[in-house]
Amino acid sequence: MKYAVLNLPYTGSPLDYRSDLSPSRLHPIHAWLGRRPVLAQHTAEEHAALERWATGRSIIVEIGVAEGVLAMALRRRMAADGTLYLIDPFHLSRIPIFNFTKLAAHRAVGSVPRGKTVWIQSFSFEASRSWNTPIDLLLIDGDHTEKGVRRDWEEWSPFVAPEGIVILHDARLFPGGWTTPDYGPVRLVDDLFRRQTIPGWRIAEEIHSLVIVKREK
Ligand SMILES: C[S@@+](CC[C@H](N)C(=O)[O-])C[C@H]1O[C@@H](n2cnc3c(N)ncnc32)[C@H](O)[C@@H]1O
Repeated sequence: MKYAVLNLPYTGSPLDYRSDLSPSRLHPIHAWLGRRPVLAQHTAEEHAALERWATGRSIIVEIGVAEGVLAMALRRRMAADGTLYLIDPFHLSRIPIFNFTKLAAHRAVGSVPRGKTVWIQSFSFEASRSWNTPIDLLLIDGDHTEKGVRRDWEEWSPFVAPEGIVILHDARLFPGGWTTPDYGPVRLVDDLFRRQTIPGWRIAEEIHSLVIVKREK
């Protein structure tokens, strides 16, 4: 299925996508009807990095799915017998049965024939209460407030297995990008990994707004 990634430098316009997307087609119903591609909220370079880090991983959790483009990258490269857990409440639709973001996401991720997917339609802080599975790759891209992203880190990172990774999106400043110093994920990464070191964790890679941190053996 077709998807569009963000172009740089980012100006905040719908035309920042590499497509002939018209602003009148932004509503997710147009993705569902096939009138436009599903829209990523990340760049091509980030997409390539996500595919690389997902390669061969078996248990992957994504918090914050939106139209599902990042999930497509993860699914494309995960272990063939792996499971991709997708957590999003899809709470922004006014009429639940016409939740076109959710419908478009299910179709986009379903178009990638690899591994298994498990959809968890709830907030990450609800899903964490019953979670008990070690995670190979955790992607945090849900609640972007500092409090929300910190809560995701605190509740979910303990489940990440040794040599597993956490990828934080919108978590660093970069030329031509959209992030600012007051973004919640930027503040969290500054606090956890730049002003101090957390025993057992280190930054493995940074690309555009992505910060990839790895749990030591
Ligand atoms: C920036 S978008 C995610 C973009 C997505 N990763 C992609 O591939 O384009 C944020 C998403 O997080 C979801 N969200 C917000 N708070 C959340 C939470 N506490 N747990 C899970 N998802 C959440 C929203 O519904 C929204 O779809």
